[in-house]
Amino acid sequence: MVASIDGSTALDGASAGLSSDADREVLLTLRSIADLIIVGAGTVRSEGYGVPNKPGQRIGVVSRSGDVDVASRLFASGAGFLILPEDAPHTSVESVRAGVGELDLRAALRRLPGSPAFVQAEGGASLNGALAAADLLDEINITTSPLLVGGSGSRATSHGPQISHRFDLVDLLVDDGFIFSRYVRQPGPSA
Ligand SMILES: NC(=O)c1ccc[n+]([C@@H]2O[C@H](COP(=O)([O-])OP(=O)(O)OC[C@H]3O[C@@H](n4cnc5c(N)ncnc54)[C@H](OP(=O)(O)O)[C@@H]3O)[C@@H](O)[C@H]2O)c1
Repeated sequence: MVASIDGSTALDGASAGLSSDADREVLLTLRSIADLIIVGAGTVRSEGYGVPNKPGQRIGVVSRSGDVDVASRLFASGAGFLILPEDAPHTSVESVRAGVGELDLRAALRRLPGSPAFVQAEGGASLNGALAAADLLDEINITTSPLLVGGSGSRATSHGPQISHRFDLVDLLVDDGFIFSRYVRQPGPSA
């Protein structure tokens, strides 16, 4: 994720205005080593998601409604699939389903195609909030953009319950005013 100085993860409804060449390179490098990507349906609807550069890499789109553009390249190519609650509406798109009423993210991640070891979550804030609440984030890569943007853009997590999960800061880099930080989940009980 990339966030402004004041914590917003969107500018004009998208992340591009907060990003930089180096930030995009970090994202693409992480993608190149990830086995599979997951992303919230809201981000796919607002940012548009294409086919990953890495051959065979798949993108799981997390949704309750299944409301995605099935004709988009992401789904028409077969790279995209949906991650839905068991009782979500029928869809023509390949789906991983878990949980009744509410998506069971932990169970869904266990059912991902290819049993990936490294799953990269690319936001947005609502999906991040659910992943954080379920303590499913092992590592967080966050870029702080040198922009103050005001407005009411979401923080890196939203719509989740309050939690207190401690992470260790393991990498910190500065490039052209942008701060790149990598945090790893500290083992042990949460507060
Ligand atoms: N700065 C960054 O690095 C960055 C990265 C990504 C996105 N963004 C920005 O963030 C904004 C989108 O964030 P967002 O929070 O609105 O959307 P989001 O998290 O991408 O997607 C929200 C949607 O995902 C589905 N969803 C989320 N949590 C779920 C759960 N626990 N179970 C089932 N489905 C779930 C629902 O889909 P349905 O509505 O289909 O049911 C929900 O409406 C955009 O402006 C985007 O540009 C910024």
